[in-house]
Amino acid sequence: ATTLGASAAEQGRYFGTAVAAYKLSDSTYSGILNREFNSVTAENEMKWDATEPTQGSFSYGSADQIVARAKSIGAKVRGHALAWHQQQPGWAQNMSGTALRNAMLNHVTQVATHYKGQIDSWDVVNEAFADGSSGARRDSNLQRTGNDWIEAAFRAARTADPAAKLCYNDYNTDGQNAKSNAVFAMVQDFKARGVPIDCVGFQSHFNAQSPLPSDYQANLQRFANLGVDVQITELDIEGSGTAQANAYGSAVRACLAVTRCNGITVWGIRDSDSWRASGTPLLFDNSGNKKAAYTAALDALNGG
Ligand code: G3I
Repeated sequence: ATTLGASAAEQGRYFGTAVAAYKLSDSTYSGILNREFNSVTAENEMKWDATEPTQGSFSYGSADQIVARAKSIGAKVRGHALAWHQQQPGWAQNMSGTALRNAMLNHVTQVATHYKGQIDSWDVVNEAFADGSSGARRDSNLQRTGNDWIEAAFRAARTADPAAKLCYNDYNTDGQNAKSNAVFAMVQDFKARGVPIDCVGFQSHFNAQSPLPSDYQANLQRFANLGVDVQITELDIEGSGTAQANAYGSAVRACLAVTRCNGITVWGIRDSDSWRASGTPLLFDNSGNKKAAYTAALDALNGG
């Protein structure tokens, strides 16, 4: 096929992008979104600070705009993210103990209920493991409510929206290392004890310092072997030209080689939409033209 989404669909997968609600009125941006993608993730609009700015008072306007656009173009929605140590509203940042645990669980329940039936996959918990070699949980106010906070969040999400696939999502877990081993052990434990988890998201923010790991596909496969779907959730790759194009092609082929890798999301449309302050990590240039990286990703989706 001739677009990313349609080509992915022919492979039984989706190809999505992060979307910012305030850019939907930009015709270049919207034109590419509507044409190319069959899944969307709200870049910031479904996060805790955006959806519950005041405790118990929920605000869904921007996120609803993104969901409405997804519906109008026939795209799936990845929900991002219910429980995370970053982008918490001010009122939650200094909470602790039972009060914070209950506030988090209420947040999960309220937001998952609001979007019930409209979300393909939810990032229920984001970035809960520490970087480096410890294999430990990341220290955070949520972690300090007790080690079972992650499973409690997943159970609350399942109850609120039984049809949504529930994912754990993280970065620097793309290859086999201490951090991904720790996530692997958690998923294995959840499956053994019946904690509801359906998918693992691999953010895949790549650059010269941390390029595509040589065992990327093997790592996706070992998680899939645990009985979860795997998804590339925030793909962007620093660089330009042929090297960048080859890396995008490799990332797409790694997913296609894993039966349970059911979708890929890039973290923005044009280079100028990227969260990265400088650089050119995405598939379209600042004017919305297709880059070599786009062609490589499309060709890979079409079996090239
Ligand atoms: O909305 C305010 C605006 O009112 C204000 O004027 C402006 C001034 O700084 O800030 C705006 O908020 C910014 C927001 O993006 C919306 O643009 C925040 O400062 C900024 O911190 C926020 O950055 C987001 C970042 O997550 C926050 O952690 C990025 O857009 C978003 O791409 C990024 O996404 C994360 C994923 O959620 C999780 N994985 C890593 C990924 C990249 O960091």
